[in-house]
Amino acid sequence: MEVVQVPCMNGGIGETSYANNSLLQRKVISMTKFIAEEAIANLYCNTLPRSIAIADLGCSSGPNTLFVVSELIKEVDKLRQKLGHDSPEYQVFLNDLPGNDFNAIFKSLPSFQKEMSSQLGPGAGPCLFSGTPGSFYGRLFPSNCLHFVHSSYSLHWLSQVPEGVDNNKGNIYMASTSPPCVFKAYYEQFQRDFSIFLKCRAEELVAGGRMVLTLLGRRSEDPSSKECCYIYELMALALNDMVSEGLIEEDKVDSFNIPKYTPSPSELKFEVLKGGDFSIDRLEVSEVNWNIYDGEFNTSNGFSNDGYGVAKYVRAVLEPLLVTHFGDAIIDEVFHRYGKIIDDRISKEKTQFINLTISVTKKG
Ligand SMILES: C[S@@+](CC[C@H](N)C(=O)[O-])C[C@H]1O[C@@H](n2cnc3c(N)ncnc32)[C@H](O)[C@@H]1O
Repeated sequence: MEVVQVPCMNGGIGETSYANNSLLQRKVISMTKFIAEEAIANLYCNTLPRSIAIADLGCSSGPNTLFVVSELIKEVDKLRQKLGHDSPEYQVFLNDLPGNDFNAIFKSLPSFQKEMSSQLGPGAGPCLFSGTPGSFYGRLFPSNCLHFVHSSYSLHWLSQVPEGVDNNKGNIYMASTSPPCVFKAYYEQFQRDFSIFLKCRAEELVAGGRMVLTLLGRRSEDPSSKECCYIYELMALALNDMVSEGLIEEDKVDSFNIPKYTPSPSELKFEVLKGGDFSIDRLEVSEVNWNIYDGEFNTSNGFSNDGYGVAKYVRAVLEPLLVTHFGDAIIDEVFHRYGKIIDDRISKEKTQFINLTISVTKKG
């Protein structure tokens, strides 16, 4: 079977770019940042380092890229002023796959640094930025050099489509109609990937270093649960409609599988404890509506709060993967149909993504 690599999000700043369609991820960062702030505050107060090395893994390119990092630096700066200490220096490493739009990030740095220095107190240390292209399922940094690792909405991506999912007929992810071997293949790929991730970060973090990871997951132990599979079952509906109209070949849909895994809290906990390098400080579950403007829609902001809006931000994430497999000719039609299907469902039922946030400390 061909091993499908995970492509980056839609780049640039156009209408369908990730930069313009990442408000849901921004909302999740805002909802969970108290956990990252708590972790970095503990790290700072316990060790009072002269320099703090922070890595954001799967940072993408857009308004979210520097958001968490700036909040973390502000948190440390607030504390050091309160405690009356000199400021540490901040070293920030921004990681994503090599195809990520690092140029756009680098170009935004001068204005970001200017803004940061106006927000930080007098005497704040320098914030030094570097880009680190590469997969987080491998080593990215020298041994014992990081104090803090953050990652949001990136670790549910697997390193590849699992092998052994060839018979996932009519589905594009784990689904209620998938055969048992498909669930097994997905879970085993997640286990392999996540354990490698933990081993690499354990090498790179200093003893007592902290890591806060947020990823899509599920509350249920059932991997075919609607809370993690429904969004892709609806996309499979759109694709299968197009198959029945002769617009896409059936084989093409049957051989397409999304390289993601949405674990349960106990699956995540099991991997961390099995690795043995980290202790768990917190494991939180939260949810966010598919329709992020639910109850707070303001027509003046120009955003669409219907199913087409939801399809648009899924498009910013999945389009490169779909184009690689199906070609670009069908993309507009797929997402138009997908938007229509989602629009119908969100008007009838509550639809939410489940987020898992785990905060861990590297053992000494
Ligand atoms: C949905 S974006 C999240 C971006 C940002 N953290 C946010 O919350 O808006 C997921 C990012 O993870 C990156 N990614 C996926 N697999 C990766 C890997 N193995 N190594 C590094 N980055 C990866 C993708 O390229 C993408 O930019």
